[in-house]
Amino acid sequence: MSSESPRSKIQNQKSKIPKIIVLIGAPGAGKGTQARLIQERLHLPQISTGDMFRALALSDSLLSREVKELQDAGKLIPDDLVIRIVAERTSLPDCDAGYVLDGFPRTPAQAATLEGLANEQGKTIVAIFVDVPLELLKKRAVGRRQCPICHEIYNIYFLPPAFDEVCDRHPGVKLEQRADDTSEKVGVRLKTYEEQTRPLLGYYRDSHRLTRVDGTQTPEAIYTQIQKIIAANGK
Ligand code: AP5
Ligand code: MG
Repeated sequence: MSSESPRSKIQNQKSKIPKIIVLIGAPGAGKGTQARLIQERLHLPQISTGDMFRALALSDSLLSREVKELQDAGKLIPDDLVIRIVAERTSLPDCDAGYVLDGFPRTPAQAATLEGLANEQGKTIVAIFVDVPLELLKKRAVGRRQCPICHEIYNIYFLPPAFDEVCDRHPGVKLEQRADDTSEKVGVRLKTYEEQTRPLLGYYRDSHRLTRVDGTQTPEAIYTQIQKIIAANGK
């Protein structure tokens, strides 16, 4: 007979199921910052729909121009396109052991699709809400700067690079500002978040899959909490 207690048996079973870590939070909450840390340290790939669409917008086609226009205006990309790229990306072998979703799902239709994907892929969903008050969000988004090479994320107010607007990892490379990080566009994105994405918190809370973290702490302190949540769910 096994000497394992029922509790550790459940824990062991849980740890064998690959996880889909869903980071939910308003624009500027720190989803990308945390997803990059999880990717670096836990080796779960970061699937950022925002980054994927920004990369697509660099090519020259009707579709890429439409995507760029919507993104720059702070509006959502249509569900069918988003769902298609997420299904395709998460079916690649590097996602077999689990992955981190940064910026998806953002609508009820996207959340419903993710349930289907999780089932098909044999994974469980762990949703984490990075909670930051409204008054901080605008400053975080407007102050954000990113390295065009390694995509390291900085903030001129809160997490500045060592030298004025130049990447610490790539000396001489000037940091860039996103077209949708103006005060006006951030306002549009926050409104969209309130209307379309915030309701998903209730959805994951009601199905006991949501944990809140205080997103006003330092990135390291937030990461420590996130790592504990992932460990408690078996990674
Ligand atoms: P996306 O790129 O996902 O943008 P977002 O959700 O608006 O979120 P952000 O990237 O602005 O913020 P973040 O939470 O990643 O914060 P970050 O870590 O950078 O989407 C952009 C657009 O793409 C959408 O508007 C839409 O058009 C389209 N799109 C994407 N996904 C879609 C989907 N699923 N459906 C439809 N359309 C979609 O941090 C922000 C700043 O704060 C940085 O400067 C950072 O350095 C700083 N910071 C981070 N953490 C801390 C901390 N703990 N303390 C102090 N400063 C911090
Ligand atoms: Mg981001």
